Amino acid sequence: MSTSWNDAGWGMLCAPLGGGEGGGAILEPETAAVGLRHKHLLGLEDYGADEITLILDTAESFLEVLERPIKKVPTLRGITVVNLFFENSTRTRISFEMAEKRLSADTVNFSASSSSTQKGETLRDTAANIEAMKIDAVVMRHSAPGACLFLSRCLESVIINAGDGAHEHPTQALLDILSLRRRLGDLRGKRVTLVGDILHSRVALSNIYGLQKLGAHVQVCGPAPLIPRHIEELGVEVYWNIEEALENSDVLNVLRIQLERHNAHHFPSLREYHEEFGVTMDRLDRHASDELVILHPGPINRGVEISSEVADSGRSIILEQVTNGVAVRMAVLYLLLGGKTREH
Ligand code: MLT
Repeated sequence: MSTSWNDAGWGMLCAPLGGGEGGGAILEPETAAVGLRHKHLLGLEDYGADEITLILDTAESFLEVLERPIKKVPTLRGITVVNLFFENSTRTRISFEMAEKRLSADTVNFSASSSSTQKGETLRDTAANIEAMKIDAVVMRHSAPGACLFLSRCLESVIINAGDGAHEHPTQALLDILSLRRRLGDLRGKRVTLVGDILHSRVALSNIYGLQKLGAHVQVCGPAPLIPRHIEELGVEVYWNIEEALENSDVLNVLRIQLERHNAHHFPSLREYHEEFGVTMDRLDRHASDELVILHPGPINRGVEISSEVADSGRSIILEQVTNGVAVRMAVLYLLLGGKTREH
C-alpha cells in the first residue's frame, strides 16, 4: 500500500504555496525536506512519525493563510476532488470542502441519499463512474470499515478517509494532535485519556496510532462493554473509573456515545452514563489538574458525555479543533495532491 508516489521532495513542497492571491511562500526549508511516502491517507496506522509531523508543520503554515484577509492560495488549481459521503457529517464535510476551496481545487459533493446507490449501484461502480469523469481525488466517508482501502484498490485517484465505520478517522486525529501540540508543545510523555465509547469510535483508533507515534502515553476510560477487549495490546492503559483517569491525565478527549452503531444495550441509560462517566465541572474541580485540556471531536451531546459548563469553559479547545481541522485538511490535500500540479 505504501509507495514513494509522493516523494518529489523540497521543490514540490515549496513551489505551490508561493505567490498567488494570498501572498508569499510559507514553508520552512526544514519542514519541506521530506515528503509523504503514501499515495493515500487511509489511516494513521501505517503513517510514520515523520509523515505525521510533516502534516502538522504544513498545517501550521496553512493556519497563517487562514488568518489572511484573502484566505486562498492557487496551490491545487486544476485539481478536482470529489467528496463522497455515504454517512452524515457536518464538520468534516464542510471542513474538507472549505480546505479544497481555500486551495483553489474544484470540488464536487456527493451524498448517498440523492445518488444511484439508492437504486442498487455498487460502491465500486459508483466510484468508477465518478473517476471516469477525470477526477484526481476522492474524500470518502462510509459506514463500512475498510471501504477506503477497498476504493484505493479499485481507483487510480488519491483516496482520503473521512471516516470508515468504527475503524479510522485520520484527519480528526491529526487535527486533535495539532490542537494539542499548539497548546502543550512536545507531546512526548503527555498522558492523553480518551473517554467514552471507545468500541464504536473511529476517532479513538486514529488518535491512539497518531499520539503514540509522537510519544504520548494513551489511556482509555469508559464502561466495560464500550472498551474493546485486548485493547491493552495496542499499548494503551485502561481505566474503568473516570476520577482515577482524571487524576492521571494531561488531556481528556471526550468521545460521543455512538448510539447509531450500537446493536445492543451497553449501559442502562444515558442518564446513568452521565452519572458514571460524564465530564462535569464538579469532577474536574475535584480530580483534575488545573492545566487539564479538554477536546471533543463533535457533535457534542451536552449533558451526556460532557456538561455544557465544561464544553464552554476555558479548559475546552473544541472550537480551536474546528479551525485547525481546515488547516490539517489543506495540508493533507496539498501533500497528497500538490505533486500532480507540478507534473502538469
Ligand atoms: C465521527 O465522524 O466519528 C465524528 O467526528 C465523531 C462522532 O461522530 O462522534
